[in-house]
Amino acid sequence: MAASRRVGGMALLRKTSPRRDQVRRNIGTERSLWCSRLMDADVIISLLIWLAFVALCIGVLSFGLAQQGRYRALAASSLIVVFAAVGGGLYAYHYQNRLLRNHAKALALVVLFPALLAVTKLGSLSSGNALWGLGWGVGTAVLTAIILVIAYDQRFAIGMSALYCVLASLAVGPKPDQAFQLQGMRLFLTMIAGAAVCCFTLKEIRTRMKLLEVSALAAAVVFLTAMAVPYLNFLGEPPKGLTVFQASGYYACAAFLAGLLMQSLLPLIEKLFRIATSMTLLDYSDANQALLKKLAMEAPGTFSHSLLIGSIAEAAAEAVGCNGLLCRVGAYYHDIGKINKPKYFTENEMGSTSKHKELSPAMSQLIIVGHVKDGLEMAKEFGLPIVLHQFIETHHGTTLVEPFYHEARRKYEESGPGGASKRLIESPPSESEFRYAGPRPRSREAAIIMLADAVESATRSLSDVTLAKVEAVVHNIAMKRLEDGQFDECDLTLRELSQIEASMSKSLAAHYHGRIAYPTAPDGSSRLPKPSVAKMVET
Ligand SMILES: [Fe+2]
Ligand SMILES: [Fe+2]
Repeated sequence: MAASRRVGGMALLRKTSPRRDQVRRNIGTERSLWCSRLMDADVIISLLIWLAFVALCIGVLSFGLAQQGRYRALAASSLIVVFAAVGGGLYAYHYQNRLLRNHAKALALVVLFPALLAVTKLGSLSSGNALWGLGWGVGTAVLTAIILVIAYDQRFAIGMSALYCVLASLAVGPKPDQAFQLQGMRLFLTMIAGAAVCCFTLKEIRTRMKLLEVSALAAAVVFLTAMAVPYLNFLGEPPKGLTVFQASGYYACAAFLAGLLMQSLLPLIEKLFRIATSMTLLDYSDANQALLKKLAMEAPGTFSHSLLIGSIAEAAAEAVGCNGLLCRVGAYYHDIGKINKPKYFTENEMGSTSKHKELSPAMSQLIIVGHVKDGLEMAKEFGLPIVLHQFIETHHGTTLVEPFYHEARRKYEESGPGGASKRLIESPPSESEFRYAGPRPRSREAAIIMLADAVESATRSLSDVTLAKVEAVVHNIAMKRLEDGQFDECDLTLRELSQIEASMSKSLAAHYHGRIAYPTAPDGSSRLPKPSVAKMVET
C-alpha cells in the first residue's frame, strides 16, 4: 500500500515536472517579452523625449541663476524639475498612454512647456519688482490649461497644468518683496485656481464666445484667490489692502488676456497638436464644403447615406458619452472615396443594372475596397483635419466583402470537379483576399461609425420594417463585428455596445417609421391607430 503510494507519489512528481518546466518556460518567455517591450522603439523615443523635456526645462530655469552664481538654487531647481518630470511622465503613462506611440503629440508638449516657461522667466526678469511681474506666471498657466484641455482631455489637462504651475513658480523665483512673505505659495495657488477653472469649464469649444466666457470666469477666480491668499500670512505684518487689490487686478487681467490670446492662437494649436476643435468640426459639417458638395453632386445616394449615418452615430455616441459631433462629421466624410466610381455602389445605382454583373468577383472586390484608399487620398488633397481621416480608413476595418466572396466561392464550386474535367478556377478563393485592408477602429467614435454604416445598409434592404426586426438586425451585425475582432483595438465595452445598439435601433426605427407596418387584427382588418397617434406618427 505504502509502495503504491510511493509509486503514485513518484508518478505525481513525474507528472508535475513537465508542468514546472512549462511554468519556467512561461516565466522565461514573459521576461524576454518584458525586456523586448522595454527595448521597444516607442519606449526609447519616449524616454529621449522625456530627457529633452527635462533638459529644456532646466535650461530655461537656470537662466539668470547661473549668471548670478546661485548654484545651490540652480541645483535645487534642477532636482525639482527631475521629480516633477518623473511625476508627469508616470501621469502621462497612466492617463494618456497614447503619448507613448504618438510622438508628434508628445513632442508638441515638450515644446509647449519650456516655451511658456521661457516666456514666464523672461517676463518676470524684465519686470523687476513690479507688481504685475507675477502676472506672467498666471497668464501662461491659464494658457497651458486651455491648450491642454483642447489638445488632450480634462483629466490629463488638470494633472499637467499642476505640473506646469510648479515649474512656473520656480521660473518666477523668489523676489525681495516685503509686502508678501508667502510669495511662492500665493503664486502657485493663484495659478492653479485659474488653470483648474479652465480645465473644468472648457470641455469643448462650440462657439466663438466660449473661450472668452471661460477666461472671464478664470479671471474672476484668480482675482478672488489672489485677494485671499496674502492674508494667510499670520506671522508677519498684514499686507497692505491696496497693494493686494492692485496685484490681484494684474493677475486677473493676465488670465483674461491669456484667453483672448488663445482665441487667435487656436488655428496654430490645432495644427501643432493635430486636433480639430468643435468649431472646426462645425465648419466641416457645412454642406457648402467643397468635398461635401462634390459628394452630393456625384454620388447623391452616398451623400444621403452619410447624412443618415451622421444622425444615427451622433445619437449613439452621445448615449455612451463619446464625442457626438466628431461622429457626425466623421460620418459625412467616411465614404468620400466613392466619388471616384459612384455607379459601382448600390446606393448610387438609382434603378440601373449593377455594374458588377460585367465584372469578375475579384475585380468587383478591388473596386469596392479601393474607396477607402481613394477616400484617404482625397482627404489629404482637400486638407481634411487629421482627426477625420480615421473614419475613412477604419469604417470597414478588416471585414469581409461578403457578396463578392460568396460569388467567387459559388463560381469556384460551379467550375466543375478536378480530375476528369479540370477546374477552370485552380484554387478556392480565400477569405483574406476578400477582406478590407484595415486598420480596425482605434477609437470608440470610429467603432460607432463602423457599426452605424453596417446597420444602415442592412436595414435599408429590409422589406417591411418593424422595431423588432431593426433590433434583430442591429444586434446580429454588432455581434458579427465583435466576433470578427473588429472592436479589438478600441476601448468599447460590452455595456457600451449594448447601449449603442439600443440607440441605433431607436434612431433607425424612427427614420423608417413611415415604413413600419401596423399589426393586423385577428379578423383580418388592419388595426388603425387612434387619430392623435396617427397624427404624431405622420409628423
Ligand atoms: Fe465605405
Ligand atoms: Fe458607408
